[in-house]
Amino acid sequence: MKRLGIIISGRGSNFEAIARNIRAGNIPDAEIAIVIANRESAAGLEIARELGLKAICLPSKGIDREAYDAQLIGELNDHQVDLVCLAGYMRLLSPPFIRAFPMRILNIHPSLLPAFPGLDAQHQAFEYGVKVTGCTVHFVDEHLDHGPIVLQAPVDVLPTDTAETLSSRILAEEHRIYSEAIRIVLSGRFRVEDRRVILED
Ligand code: GRF
Repeated sequence: MKRLGIIISGRGSNFEAIARNIRAGNIPDAEIAIVIANRESAAGLEIARELGLKAICLPSKGIDREAYDAQLIGELNDHQVDLVCLAGYMRLLSPPFIRAFPMRILNIHPSLLPAFPGLDAQHQAFEYGVKVTGCTVHFVDEHLDHGPIVLQAPVDVLPTDTAETLSSRILAEEHRIYSEAIRIVLSGRFRVEDRRVILED
């Protein structure tokens, strides 16, 4: 059984989709070992507890990044986590954290990277006027929204869209591809050549 550690800051809908896909048997041989939020107000914590999962808050406010990340590493290792999934985690990770889990950290980002990294990617894309945007699951490296890409899904921007309607269609695709990417990574049926993740499925 592969053990996932999920790190969130807020709503937790991507985490919930992963949890439900595991329950539905769509991510074989996986379990969620721990959900960690860096804010007590993260709604995802309550969802995790309702699902009967271990969920803790490690407040990050006012704590130096490396000191905080050392706490995170400690919790993840205590729970023998094989794969770390960032799901709406709103802090940058320090190099020691990345080195503690080499090619074992995934993130979901609501744009087709490398377009629109950073905050509010859906709004950035909407304001820019692109016709197609989407979402990306990638390995995490030391740069923001940058590591090798596992999966992407496109979403058309419609003439009738607002940033909110666009965001909600992107979110539906996020919920689909994050679980699929986790399934692929846990299966080990891929290799990485430079930046390219080559799927063997
Ligand atoms: C998602 O749009 C995700 O792509 C981004 O942060 C948001 C988190 O939403 N990284 P949720 O907490 O999973 O509902």
